[in-house]
Amino acid sequence: MIYQVYPRSFADGNGDGIGDIAGIRSRLNHLSALGIDAIWFSPWYPSPMADAGYDVSDYRDIDPVFGTLADAEALIAEAHELGIRTIVDVVPNHCSDAHPWFQAALAGGPDAPERDLFWFRPGRGPNGDERPTDWIGEFGGPTWTRTTNPDGTPGDWYLHLFAPQQPDLNWDHPRVREEFEDILRFWFDRGVDGIRIDSAGLLVKDATLPEVQPDQPHPFHDLDGVHDIYRGWRRVADEYADRALIGEVWLPDRQRFANYLRPDELHAAFNFDFLGCAWDAAALRESIDGTLSAHAPVNAPATWVLSNHDVTRHVTRYGRADTRFSFAAKREGIPTDLELGTRRARAAALLSLSLPGAAYVYQGEELGLYEVEDIPYAMRQDPMWERSGRIDPGRDGCRVPLPWAGDEPPFEFSPTGAAAPWLPQPADWKDRTASAQTGDSASMLELYRAAIQARRADPALGDGELTWLPAPDGVLAFSRGGGGFTCLVNLSAAPVTMPAQGELLLASGPLDDGLLPSDTAVWLRTAEVTDGPRGADGPA
Ligand code: GLC
Ligand code: CA
Repeated sequence: MIYQVYPRSFADGNGDGIGDIAGIRSRLNHLSALGIDAIWFSPWYPSPMADAGYDVSDYRDIDPVFGTLADAEALIAEAHELGIRTIVDVVPNHCSDAHPWFQAALAGGPDAPERDLFWFRPGRGPNGDERPTDWIGEFGGPTWTRTTNPDGTPGDWYLHLFAPQQPDLNWDHPRVREEFEDILRFWFDRGVDGIRIDSAGLLVKDATLPEVQPDQPHPFHDLDGVHDIYRGWRRVADEYADRALIGEVWLPDRQRFANYLRPDELHAAFNFDFLGCAWDAAALRESIDGTLSAHAPVNAPATWVLSNHDVTRHVTRYGRADTRFSFAAKREGIPTDLELGTRRARAAALLSLSLPGAAYVYQGEELGLYEVEDIPYAMRQDPMWERSGRIDPGRDGCRVPLPWAGDEPPFEFSPTGAAAPWLPQPADWKDRTASAQTGDSASMLELYRAAIQARRADPALGDGELTWLPAPDGVLAFSRGGGGFTCLVNLSAAPVTMPAQGELLLASGPLDDGLLPSDTAVWLRTAEVTDGPRGADGPA
């Protein structure tokens, strides 16, 4: 099980209201008690923070707001001592506009060789004042910004698929390729076990810059040339023992998705199909089957993700009338029933932790945190909010600092007397702090702890086969490990008779006189298993 730490919001060690490495080190015991196998750290590099650190100005150092490189090395070492592996987030599609390469490209004027490391182009129209293409960026809005020449005249435009402070790198240039292979080695040399690859499907662009047209190849989504980059990265990873590459690949086409996972490319990629799926038995079964059958031919482990730092927290999503996730449908003020969403999130935890492959948990999910939807406009930081013309509420609501203990904000996120947290925490998180939930067997935290421990100990879980069992409509029922373990999830509106019987290992909620209530999941021991228990090197 891989746990995503969003450093700004995990724990604040020095009291400035922003999470940091000292804070993470002080809370490693929480992660160790949860039983995680690895931590993925969202970016912690020097950055002007135009996109919360996904705008990197130096890939080989740590932003002072988070600490120092020595702090990161100490954290990596301490995690290893606890048997926890570490994954860093590398952002190759773009860097920050404060990166020395981009600064040199601007300062050197139209002929600066550094311009070839990016996508500088003259504008269209007689005065060059029209954008080179009409592409729409990933945050909404145009993808080109015009520069001013060193002599003050209007100059060329540069491409940014995200915010203007995130200029896209030109992956056709060998220096870009060499630089990133060297960055991988830099972090592998520091002992990290894996790399999460940001926006992994966007790196290669069609240099003829065509417009986006229906039925035409997309000019920057998932171009075939991207695979060559990851073959190179795989060779770098293979220079070391046991290092993993995990791609952020948003692609509806499962076949094209699986291409990233061929034996000489990435080890794994995030399953956004499952993340975005409705809380609906037929849809989930289709997503699970489609995922497993796409991964089988490339022999890569599937991943199961419910939330991350970009999407509406699933407690909130699952309490809505439409339980799916898509960026296009994100709006302010969609009603939700948090009690229902929490019940479903508990069942979803048992579902995702018993599927074949690797499970990912986003920080705070184990506390049952919901999306904070009432952050005052003036406090919102995510560029998506403004760039969407304030249609998309932005991603701040899933990035609110974690509540650790105590009855009022900052809930020990920061030490006593510290500055207020960088985003405000809801007062009712007093019931969702790690400390309030510890020892409460009905809490989300204890459910996650029990499920993760059981998963580590059970040879039937993690990798291996899944067999669907006959079940009433609206119920998911499958066994693992040749029948020794069964998971049942009732997504229908009424209680059902359990389609399988066995020793109850875990339930996501109270059972109703032997019936499985609506939005409830159970794990059952259904037969003897012959292999011994799996130790610390069990399933991820
Ligand atoms: C990825 C990150 C997201 C970021 C974007 C641009 O999607 O997960 O947080 O804004 O890339 O780097
Ligand atoms: Ca801090």
